[in-house]
Amino acid sequence: MKKVSIIGAGNVGANAAFYIGEKNFADVMLVDVVEGRAKGNALDLMEAAPVRYYDAKIDGSDNMEDIAGSEVVIITAGHVRKPQMSRLDLLETNARVMDPLILQIKQYAPEAIIINVTEPVDALTCYLWKKGEFDPKKIIGMTGVLDTSRLREFISKELQVSTANTTAVVIGGHHDFMVVIPRYASVEGIPITQLLPPERIDKLIKRTRTAGTEILSHLKTATAHYAPAAAIAEIAEAIIKDAKRVLCVSACLQGEYDVRDLCLGVPAIIGAGGVEKIIELTLTIEERHEFEESITVIKNAVDTLEL
Ligand code: LAC
Repeated sequence: MKKVSIIGAGNVGANAAFYIGEKNFADVMLVDVVEGRAKGNALDLMEAAPVRYYDAKIDGSDNMEDIAGSEVVIITAGHVRKPQMSRLDLLETNARVMDPLILQIKQYAPEAIIINVTEPVDALTCYLWKKGEFDPKKIIGMTGVLDTSRLREFISKELQVSTANTTAVVIGGHHDFMVVIPRYASVEGIPITQLLPPERIDKLIKRTRTAGTEILSHLKTATAHYAPAAAIAEIAEAIIKDAKRVLCVSACLQGEYDVRDLCLGVPAIIGAGGVEKIIELTLTIEERHEFEESITVIKNAVDTLEL
C-alpha cells in the first residue's frame, strides 16, 4: 500500500484520514505537534476498520521523521479562522507554521507531492513553492474541489437532481472573489444557464463564495472540515491511482493564463506526477475581469511575504 502523510491531526486532518481509510487507497501517517493527538485519532480510526472494512493502516505520530516514504504529504496544520476573520488574516501566522514544515518535508519526504490546505490556501501554496523551491508540479492547493463540490450540492438542491449529474468549474482564489463560471456548470452536460434564470444562478454563486463563512458562523469555534477533508481525499486518490482526474486546484502558474509565479485555482489534470497539465479555459471579457480581481487579492497577499 502506498503512503500518504497528513500533517495536522485536527478536524480536517483526522477526517481526511478517515475518508482515505474508507477509500482504501493508501496507508496514512497522521502527524501532529500536539503530543498524543495524532496517535489518539489514529487509534480511534483503526478501531473502526473491522466494521468499516478497511485494510489501509492509519498510524499517528508526533515526529515528522515518520512522514518518510510518503508519496503524498498533506498539510492541514495551522490556525483556523474565528468568526469575523477573513482567511487572509491568517497569512502571517500560518506562514510561520509553514517554515519548519518546508525544511522537514525536504528532509524526510523530498519526492512527495504536497497538498496544502492551510489558509489562506493560494498564498501559502505559493509560499511553499517559492520558499521550499519545490517542483511546481508537485505543489497543489486544495481549493476548487471543495468549492465545486459545494456549488454542485447547491445546484442539485435547486434543481432537484442527483449531485452525481452535476459538474462545475471554479477558478481564481479560494476567497470571496473566487470565480464561478455558470456556463461551465452543468447537469449532465446541460449548462445551468439553460436550466435556471440568472438571479437564481447568482444566488448559488454567492452562497458558494461564502460557504466556508456560512459554516463558520454556525460552528463558531471551528471551520468546515467534512467537505474539505473529502476534497483532500479526492485529490490524494487521483495522485496515488494516477487517475488523470480533471480537478480544480490551486496550481503554480508559470505563464498559463498569462500569470507567472502565483498559485491560483484552475482546472488541471491530476495524476502520479501531481499537476500534470493545467487546462487553460477561454474566458469572456467579464470572466477575465473577475479573474484579474481574484489574482490581485492573492498577489497582494503574496507580496507581503518574504520569499
Ligand atoms: C472553507 C475553508 C477550507 O472554505 O476555507 O471552509
